[in-house]
Amino acid sequence: MLVSHRRDQFIEFVKNLLKPGFTLDAMEATAANTWRHVEELIEEHRAIEETRGGGRSRLGENVPTVGTFHTSLPLAAAWATFDARYRVSRRRFVAPTFNEIREILNLAQVKAFASAPGLRFVSFDGDCTLYRDGRNFDDVVLAGQILGLLAAGVCVALVTAAGYGYDASKYEKRIEGLLRVFDDERAPSDVLRRFYVCGGECNYLLQLDRDARGRAALASREAIWDVTFDEAAATALLDVAEASLRQSVDDLNMARANVVRKKRAVGLYFNDRSDARREALDEAVLRAQNALRDRDCAVPYCAFNGGADVWVDIGNKSEGVDGFQRLLNVPKAACLHVGDQFLVTGNDHASRASCPCLWITNPDETKRVLTDVLDVLDDANYPAPPSPRSRAGAAKPPPAP
Ligand code: IMP
Ligand code: MG
Repeated sequence: MLVSHRRDQFIEFVKNLLKPGFTLDAMEATAANTWRHVEELIEEHRAIEETRGGGRSRLGENVPTVGTFHTSLPLAAAWATFDARYRVSRRRFVAPTFNEIREILNLAQVKAFASAPGLRFVSFDGDCTLYRDGRNFDDVVLAGQILGLLAAGVCVALVTAAGYGYDASKYEKRIEGLLRVFDDERAPSDVLRRFYVCGGECNYLLQLDRDARGRAALASREAIWDVTFDEAAATALLDVAEASLRQSVDDLNMARANVVRKKRAVGLYFNDRSDARREALDEAVLRAQNALRDRDCAVPYCAFNGGADVWVDIGNKSEGVDGFQRLLNVPKAACLHVGDQFLVTGNDHASRASCPCLWITNPDETKRVLTDVLDVLDDANYPAPPSPRSRAGAAKPPPAP
């Protein structure tokens, strides 16, 4: 099986549409029309998806892997903003790149939140999105932006593959720098309570609040989290995944790799990250995905390359985001997931099925997109949000310890 697992077919499609205008040195005259055309193709695709079974869209014909667009995308407006910032249309030697198209799609997605239902919930991936890979949160500016979202009434969650069960201290360690800013800024309790952590992709829900000493601290919300899986099916899935990973270790000569089994995951990692080779990790992921696809598993899962390790988790970020939508009573179109892993070997990819997404490449870019998001929230004037689901005791403070 030869798959272009390092490519995104939709972005490649747009890149190819822009190419003739660039080659003819006519971007200033043609690019806006090209983006308007893509905007129309997306609208047509959305309309056909809504009617279910109403045939294949032109976009679907051209990009068989294209997913769901949960909102319209004002691409022509996003292009105009981006081009005014970076003068892409003036370039004669460097054609619009994959990353620029990714950024324009992000900007269009952010602009879409200017219209109702607006933005009510943002989930962030952890590694490479809020902090550097394998490190802890350490950015005061980014913390201030997250506080800005919370203060604007938006619920925010860290939705990470990192699965430490309900051991709150381990997640608190990863986001210590964020919690410190919340404390320093004396964020009110109702603002803090809009912040959640969902560990193990979708398996463990925790919520922020003030502890007995008045500090921002995470508390388990296992009692109100409805994302659960059949134990026997989960064990059977992890057995298949573990066998596949061990086979990859042997076949690909990853002699220094460790295979670890957790309650909700099986992973392959190296004590020294520099022993990890990207190609071998991708191969191990695709083999695991293939083995699991053959078994027709009864529980959702996620097999991904984490950069220096491979994991197969029970559940995925789509389940996690869906869980928040039920908990907080927000529609898909009012949610946003920000992450760095949107290739088929990545673990943010699954969230596309559940909500609009921004594909960023590092925490600095997260800050850049959040500047745009906060601008849109400042300007927005849409109706008041629906109240959280009544059984969401999550909105109430926990009983005093
Ligand atoms: P994310 O980018 O925040 O989703 O985190 C992904 C990283 O979390 C992986 O690359 C691993 O290094 C780490 N991790 C820790 N525990 C787990 C687990 O149980 N499953 C998957 N990844 C884990
Ligand atoms: Mg990540």
